[in-house]
Amino acid sequence: MWLIFGGSGFLGSFLRRHLKARNIPFHSPTSNQCDIRDKNALRRWIDEVAPEVVINCVALTGVDFCEEHPNEAWEINTRAPAIMAALCQEKNSFFVHFSTDYVFSGSKGNPYVESDLTDPINVYGWTKRLSEESLQAAYPEGTLIVRSAWLFSEHTKGFFTFLADAVEESRGELSVPRQVGSPTYLEDLAKTTLKLVEKGRSGLFHVVNGGATSWVELAEFFLARFPGGGALSVSERKVDTRPARRPVYSVLATDKLRKTAGLEVRPWQEAAEACIERMTKRRKE
Ligand SMILES: NC(=O)c1ccc[n+]([C@@H]2O[C@H](COP(=O)([O-])OP(=O)(O)OC[C@H]3O[C@@H](n4cnc5c(N)ncnc54)[C@H](OP(=O)(O)O)[C@@H]3O)[C@@H](O)[C@H]2O)c1
Repeated sequence: MWLIFGGSGFLGSFLRRHLKARNIPFHSPTSNQCDIRDKNALRRWIDEVAPEVVINCVALTGVDFCEEHPNEAWEINTRAPAIMAALCQEKNSFFVHFSTDYVFSGSKGNPYVESDLTDPINVYGWTKRLSEESLQAAYPEGTLIVRSAWLFSEHTKGFFTFLADAVEESRGELSVPRQVGSPTYLEDLAKTTLKLVEKGRSGLFHVVNGGATSWVELAEFFLARFPGGGALSVSERKVDTRPARRPVYSVLATDKLRKTAGLEVRPWQEAAEACIERMTKRRKE
């Protein structure tokens, strides 16, 4: 039996779908059934289920919200995963946790590898960095940490949904931040993560689609393929007034995944093409 925290979220709902398709039995408590800030609730769930694998898809992912609520961000993104890892160690459960490209400042200018020193520039990035460090120190042999970035899918939430809604609302034009990163199809992240779990791989891995792009290029790629997309023009925002700073360059290299786990993730263009096709079909239905 597996246990998934955060199963209602963007990534969690995809993972649940994949587990069902593979006939892997799991429990996935809602945030009402288990608020992960409550250590006793975590213990109860882990004790009762005695899971083979625990997957933590819970996070406070609102980067600006985290900037303005650092204590809450720390509790959910740092403290709770550390408690989960300790409970997993007690039960001998394998623990899977997700992290982000935002653990980097963006000043390197080349794709980041797993061994690069992290140097976050916002609270969200700090809380995720601290979670990586505490898990690697506490339960390294039983913890897999997957760093990913810029998630997209045909379902609710994410950049493509935002663009599709803007097209359908005839917004005409919009501006996006100046950033370069590694867009990642949730489907590819979910599948690759499960393969790493099947292989029993602990440690830190970057899992993103191949290549790199900017938000503008990604938007243009989408709009060229989405029905009616030609009516929306996208430009780079000159000034970013949001509360949290973002790394301008946070491309993640996946050489470790290929060389040590024998896993390859397709280029972002191929993944985006497949996602846009599914999204267009869904929206027509
Ligand atoms: N989205 C991205 O582009 C991205 C990029 C890189 C890495 N990641 C990482 O991927 C992981 C999943 O992100 P996501 O985008 O799927 O997140 P998400 O859609 O924001 O989902 C967050 C989940 O956390 C749950 N949750 C929040 N507070 C909780 C609490 N106190 N107790 C229990 N559950 C709580 C939510 O449940 P309710 O709905 O019930 O509140 C929801 O299921 C995170 O570790 C994130 O850092 C995401």
